[in-house]
Amino acid sequence: MKFFIDTANLAQIKEAQELGVLDGVTTNPSLMAKEGITGKDNILKHYVAICNLVEGDVSAEVNAIDYDGMIREGEELAELHEQIVVKLPMTKEGIKACKYFSDRGVKTNVTLIFSAGQALLAAKAGATYCSPFLGRLDDVSTDGLNLIDEIRQIYDNYGFETQILAASIRHTMHIVNCAKIGADVMTGPLSSIMGLMKHPLTDIGLAQFIADFEKGNK
Ligand code: E4P
Repeated sequence: MKFFIDTANLAQIKEAQELGVLDGVTTNPSLMAKEGITGKDNILKHYVAICNLVEGDVSAEVNAIDYDGMIREGEELAELHEQIVVKLPMTKEGIKACKYFSDRGVKTNVTLIFSAGQALLAAKAGATYCSPFLGRLDDVSTDGLNLIDEIRQIYDNYGFETQILAASIRHTMHIVNCAKIGADVMTGPLSSIMGLMKHPLTDIGLAQFIADFEKGNK
């Protein structure tokens, strides 16, 4: 399972990278705005800064909603850095743009996936990644994990190479459950990744080992 971090915060990306388990980064316009990154030049520079911090794929989302605009923006993003993945919304225009980029060997991430049908369409359009939004489904009393499971089944039935990128991860158990189902990638906040290493018995056990070592080595 690949681990992506879902943020535009450089300090958090660096911290995850230093842990040695990071495979990539996802961003979206809200995450860029949260870091105060506004204006085209600053946004493009920030993507390059992220690419220079990590080794893997970095999803950069288009802001255009029309096909021509998506192609223009996507091409500009793809030219920025070889690690850039063009992130496109799950709309008619987005699917057409996804096909355009996948036909030309540009990596794509179709975002805002909330149904198995949408995921099927993204795969048909040659998406590199399809991003079902787990947490946002859970927020409206719908089982997000069930959607990941359905997509896994469909992709396996036909050998689609599109990778399931479990997005809108809110906590550590989302990651564990996605791993059990077989999501190819998860993208979540740093806190959800850090939570994986926590267990009180580990802390108690380590404290005991340190105490016993100190007793015997006084
Ligand atoms: C996916 O790529 C999105 O950036 C993200 O996972 C959305 O998460 P949210 O629902 O926590 O905003």
